[in-house]
Order: sequence, then C-alpha cells, then structure tokens
Amino acid sequence: MTYQRWTLRTENTSYTVRLSPDGPWVELDAWGPLGVEDGPSALDWSRRTHFITPADAAPAEYLPYGTRPFTGSELVASGPGGDRGSWWEFDHMEAEETALRFAFRDEQLGLRTVLHYETVPGTDVILRRAEFTATRELRLERLDSAAVNIPITGVARLTYLTGQWSQEFQRTQLDLPRGTFTIGSRQGVPGHAYAPWLAVQDGEAPAAYGIALAWPGNWHMTAEAEPGGSVRVRAGRVPHEGAVLLAPGETLATPQLACAFSPEGLDGLSRVWHRYERHLSGERLHRPRKVLYNSWEATGFDVEAAGQLELAKTAADLGAELFVVDDGWFTGRADDTAGLGDWWPDPAAFPQGFDQFIADVRALGLDFGLWIEPESVSPGSRLHAEHPEWVYRIEGRPGRLVRSQLLLDLGRTDVQDFVIDTLDRLLGTYDIGYLKWDMNRPPTERGRPGAGPVDLDAEHVAGYLRVLDHLRSAHPDVTVEGCAGGGGRIEHTTIARTDVVWPSDNTAPLDRLRIQHGFLHAHAPHVMSSWVTDAPGVFDPRPRSLAFRFVNAMCGVLGIGADLRAWTPEQRAEAADWIARYKEAREVIHHGEARLLGTPEDPSCGVQYDAGHRTVVAALSTGRLDGAPLVPGRPQRLRLRGLEPTARYRDTATGTSYGGAHLLHHGLPFAWNADHDADLVVLLRE
Ligand code: DGJ
Repeated sequence: MTYQRWTLRTENTSYTVRLSPDGPWVELDAWGPLGVEDGPSALDWSRRTHFITPADAAPAEYLPYGTRPFTGSELVASGPGGDRGSWWEFDHMEAEETALRFAFRDEQLGLRTVLHYETVPGTDVILRRAEFTATRELRLERLDSAAVNIPITGVARLTYLTGQWSQEFQRTQLDLPRGTFTIGSRQGVPGHAYAPWLAVQDGEAPAAYGIALAWPGNWHMTAEAEPGGSVRVRAGRVPHEGAVLLAPGETLATPQLACAFSPEGLDGLSRVWHRYERHLSGERLHRPRKVLYNSWEATGFDVEAAGQLELAKTAADLGAELFVVDDGWFTGRADDTAGLGDWWPDPAAFPQGFDQFIADVRALGLDFGLWIEPESVSPGSRLHAEHPEWVYRIEGRPGRLVRSQLLLDLGRTDVQDFVIDTLDRLLGTYDIGYLKWDMNRPPTERGRPGAGPVDLDAEHVAGYLRVLDHLRSAHPDVTVEGCAGGGGRIEHTTIARTDVVWPSDNTAPLDRLRIQHGFLHAHAPHVMSSWVTDAPGVFDPRPRSLAFRFVNAMCGVLGIGADLRAWTPEQRAEAADWIARYKEAREVIHHGEARLLGTPEDPSCGVQYDAGHRTVVAALSTGRLDGAPLVPGRPQRLRLRGLEPTARYRDTATGTSYGGAHLLHHGLPFAWNADHDADLVVLLRE
C-alpha cells in the first residue's frame, strides 16, 4: 500500500509518519537511522482485528479515548456532564523541513487538537507535544504529550532510573513481553523514585530508543506491549486534581516530550541526551563550572562567619574557585524546624555583617554562593505568621509537616512575586555569584481554599519556571544550581534554566558511583554537580581512597563538601594536585563526547571523554583493594571506544604511548591496590 508520508531528519536519524488509511490518526511509519524509512514499514500489520478496533491495533501517534477505546489512549476528554470520549476527524496538516503539525477536530465535543513535531538542531532529538483548543467547556482527565511507538519485533527491554532519596538514578531493567509498565510521580516534582526518562530496546539488539518528559511536576510514563508486537509508550503530566478544565476559547499545550534514538545502545543514547542538554544550556554551556566548596557536610546548621572563613581559606588554598554557604545562614535557622521564609542573614552568625563576610570570602579569590529554599516556609516563621494563606491547605484539614516545614503555593502570583522580590533583594544587596535552589518537601493537603477548580500542579510549575526565567534575565551572571533534597527535580525544563543540578545527597564513594552511572545515562556531565566528602560518609561506609572520591567527583562538575579542617597536610596536598589536574581536563569532561565504560557491577569501570585530540579517562576500581585477587595477577583493563585504531595515544602523565587498536581491543591497564583505586588518565592523540 502507498501512503503519503512525511519524514523529519535529525543529524543521524529519520522519523517518518503517515496519515493512516484506517482512520483519522497519524501513525508511525519508521524511526531509526537515516534512511530507515526506505522500505516497507516495520510497523505494518495485518489489519485484521477481532474484538478490538483498528485504532486499538494501529501504531497511532496520538488518539483520544473514544476513537481508541480499549488499548490505551492519550487524551480523555468530555463536555460538562457529557459522555467521556472524543471521536475526532482529521482537519489539516502543515509540513516544514524541521517541523510537522497535524490538526484534528471534534465539533460535537468542541475540541481542536494539534500534534506538534520538531527537530532540534545539532541533535538526534525530536520534540513532540499536543495543543488543545476548546470551543466549548471541556474537561480533560488525561492529556498526554504523545504516544511513542517503538518499532521492535522481539520482547521489549525497558531501562529506567529508579530509587529513593539518597539512592536516586539506579539503572534498572526489565523485559516486557506483554502487559503494562508505569512509572511516575504525584509529589509535585519528578521525585526521587523515578526519573521522567525511559529507554526501550528490542531485546538484546543494541539500538536504543529514548524518551524524556520536560515537566517538573506530576507525571507518568506508561509502556504497553501491543497486541501487534510493538511497544507504545504514553507520557505526560498528571493533573493533581484529576482533571483540567478548559473554558471556551482557551488553548492548552502539553509539556514537550523529547524522543531520541541511537544505534549504539544505551551508551550511544546517553550521548544523544548529553548533546541535547548541551543544546539546552545554550550560551551558558561555555561558562566555566567553577570548583566549588560547600560547607553543608562540614558544619550543617552551625554556620558562623569565623568557621566558614576557616573552611573558605583552606578551600582556596587547595584551588577551589567558589565557596557556597548552604542551609543555616538566615535568622532563626538553628536546625531544620525553623527559619524558612525569613530570608535575612543571621546577624549573630555574621557579626561584622554579611557584606563583610562575603568580602572576606572574595578576598581569598573565591566566588561566593548561597543556598535558598524559596518554596518552603517554617510554621513559626514571620512569613507564615504574615501570610498563612500562602501555603497549600485544605479547609478543616490539618496541614502535615514534612521535614518540619510547609510548602508555599507557588502557583499564586503573590507568592511568585514574594520569591522574586526575595531573590532580587538578596542578589541585589549582596555580592552573590551562585545560587543553590533547594526544595525539600512534596505538597500534602494540596488545596487553595476558595479558588474553585484550579490546576494547582500546572500553576506551581508555571510559577517555578517564571521565577527561574526571572533569575536568568535579571541576574544573568548568577550561576544557578537546581536541587530538591538531592535529585528530586531533575528534568529538561529545570536543566534549561539552571547551570548544574545536584543528583543526590549521597556522596559516599561506591553509592555515588552507581548514582552517577545512572545519571549519566540521561544527563550530561556538565550539569552533574558532584562533591568529594569525608569517608566513611553518612551513607555507605565502604572505604575508598581520596583519589577515588576525587576521580568520581571529576566525572562531572567537581566540588568539595568535606570538613577540610580535619584534613592532614598530605591530604590537602593530594587534593590540590587533583584539583589542578581537573582544571586541566574539565574542558574535555564538560564539552566532549562521554562514553560509559563498563558498569559499577564490574571490577573496574569508568567514563571516557573525547574532545579534539584529547581523551580523558576516569577509571575506578569497585573491587577488593587488599592486593591482586589472583596470584600471579594481571592488571585490569578498561577498553576504550571511538578511537582511531591506527593512531597513537600518549599518556600525558607517564609518557607511555599506546596504539589505538591496542586501547580499543585490550584496553588501558590499571594495576589497582589499596593505595591506588582510581585514576584520571589524559591521552593525547599524536
Ligand atoms: C537538601 C540538599 O539536597 C542538601 O544538599 C542540603 O542543601 C540540605 N537540603 C540543606 O537543608
């Protein structure tokens, strides 16, 4: 059968859709490497159905409940008191080289829907979203961004990133022969349990398809093994109140769903996402990520000028470039039970004034950064006394505390204005070059008394993005770190508006290695903030050397969070050496192509970064450190990838020169022992 088809082309991939001959919908025809559309569609099917409709079996790109009644739909719409469902007609389509739009209408219901596709320059990502316009009052119970058909022939292998607070981004896999798989969050943020990211492969076949939802609120991703053999993933935001109401004339756009493909497996897919996030960073990608010192783990809430300056002095001596005062700098904040909302430096902690304190930090040659948690408020604070109506609450129901605090309703314009004024005041009054935005509780008892039916989740998201956008435009020189009790709010809208994100509060070496390994599947090294902390840390007592902790943290944006006051002169000298080496290599780490070498389950693993003639390899030993496990033993090897087999590569530290074929086939050798469990190797192509 011949169809009218449209193909969007990215750097290395094609995405081809067609209007279905079977009904009013768009179908996936082909998705894969450039040229994959040249042949009969791998999604063609028998067109014989029994007990279901053709819409239920077709690789439809988006369908409402009604037209697709049984096997999962992206949109559930109804009029006031009317039947649920939409039976829409195709209206028109518009095609450009880099974008497609398909419009459908349901006059009886009063709904127009436009499905948008666009390519992202310089990447292998296609962005999809839907836009609804109501011509009558409408209720949308489900409003997904897209359905993504994955053209597989065998059993789908799903890879996702799961965990909990302090164990985020654990790479997890399952095979889905039949049935439904769902991940998501109702915590008002993407959450620690699942990243809004999914990869699908055809069994053991390397090619990998990925999707990621750009939405910092409630969400879901649902993969369903279809009767015809493919897998269809639906993804979108989840309205907190169960439905979104659209007034006549109103238009609503869903969040963007980014769709990515790589023929080179999950590792290749990670590079597609890295490149996309470099694109999201735009100009700010080229802002050097400074070596940070953050005093949170050293002093906790016990923040006072003299102790902080002592830490800052040592950090500066080691080569740190930025000093960040975390939680505990403001009035009333002796512990986590009080103070949030009253964002004034505590005069008792800074007797010479906060200005003077910052000037003293800066005199050490350090930039200065500050922590804030603008969406939260402590019950005993002045802010809460003045504006008890600003927190989420439900009339007659006591508001529960989480981490002893309440959550502000950032969907309210007056709350947004308060946050903007607070940030403007702090950034305008003090010489602050870096801001860490934290968020440490989800919304419970989420309501806004008297407001009627409001899309609270979407309003909070809009408020959050408005404030972040304001930060960027009003304070363009301030570097912003995104954090939500570790990695609770990491997705593309946040990454597009911050410079770095904090993947987890867990910095214990081997735990962190697993967290970062998962993180780097979805996110780029230049956004991955990582600290060297004291060992044994608060989470994982398994010992690792200082070298291991540095090499691990250098895999992204290096920071230090240890109590430097207790470090010996030898430790300080070693740290200074690592920081100097990192500064030499960070351009390659942040801007190069990253390859994940092995996994933390292997005795050795690492990350390889390539830019121009330089290759940087961060190598880490996860195994026992009490000597070679076999006598006689051999060094372990990390096979590199993507090198020129016929070129030569020289280790800039040792002068050893390797053939490319050797590094690709046998790998770089590492003779690990108790004193040597990690290394950073810089190779120069000769
Ligand atoms: C949670 C963050 O993830 C930590 O890094 C730290 O900033 C604390 N909050 C402070 O309360």
